[in-house]
Amino acid sequence: VGIQQGLLFAKPLPYDDEQLGLDTQITIHLSHVVAENTPKGQAASKFAELVEEKTNGKVKVHVYPNSSLFNDKNEFQALQNGEVEMIIPTFSKMTSYIPNWQVLDLPYLFNTEDEVHEVLTGSIGEQLLSELKPFHIKGLGFWHNGFKHLTAVDQPIHTFEDLKGLRIRTMPSETLEKQFEAVGATPIPISFSEVFTDLESNTIDAQENTASNIYSKGFYKVQKHMTLSKHGILGYAVLINDKFWKSLPSEIQKQIMEAMKETTDWQFEQAVEMNEDDLQKLKQQDNFEIYTMSNKERQRFKEKLAPVYDFYRNNVQENDVLSEIEKIV
Ligand code: LMR
Repeated sequence: VGIQQGLLFAKPLPYDDEQLGLDTQITIHLSHVVAENTPKGQAASKFAELVEEKTNGKVKVHVYPNSSLFNDKNEFQALQNGEVEMIIPTFSKMTSYIPNWQVLDLPYLFNTEDEVHEVLTGSIGEQLLSELKPFHIKGLGFWHNGFKHLTAVDQPIHTFEDLKGLRIRTMPSETLEKQFEAVGATPIPISFSEVFTDLESNTIDAQENTASNIYSKGFYKVQKHMTLSKHGILGYAVLINDKFWKSLPSEIQKQIMEAMKETTDWQFEQAVEMNEDDLQKLKQQDNFEIYTMSNKERQRFKEKLAPVYDFYRNNVQENDVLSEIEKIV
């Protein structure tokens, strides 16, 4: 725990044994790992603004971006311990706790943003969030970033054969690891906050991410190639400590849920725009080549990755959520 965290959380949090009154000034510390000018960063700020507005200032949300409070490795633990009230991890990073969420990591499962929206904000999303119960965490909803693409330090990736032998950074999710093993690459799960330096020092050769994360973290400065492959999605679960949630007056809970719904509706469109804008900015960078994978090649890639579905079905699947998603996509 850093000095800043020590100072902030030296005392037990007020909600440990209490029911907060309507006149109490409430603070939500919200920690996340990306830059502010990203789909998640912008949504977190919008949510903070709306919560404050709807509760007439009774609830203040302090947003800590860029892993400045907690990082990928310790944020979930911190949330469970009540050291922070809210975090917004990618669903991929939650799969060590809820393996079934790997369903959302399956390659080429979704074709359009609309499909992602329907799945994440409808009854399937609710079912997935209910899987948080055993962890005493409440899921307020899902947000989206966008489709993932590939970037590489030295070599252009035109076909899946070009991935063979590369050390590729992934988020920690067995399904993501299987995806790269299926093409003969070596997946290396590391924290988001370490990706830039590991690319720079050539500890890894490649990574997968959205245009907004690649642009906002400057990954294009330490790599020469990007391939628009749209091979998977990257999205988030908006999580709040359940004990804290239950300590809130029901009127405040209602106002927070309203803020959440409004942010979510705005967020899905905003994310598409940000990724498009950031892709345009990436196209303007010197020494950074962007290649669009042909439809034929994407089809070959998809077929090559079919065993990843078998892995999920045989080793991970706990309910019928995949067949429910397949009715929509
Ligand atoms: C990543 O680790 O690549 C992303 O999960 C970062 C994020 O939260 O968008």
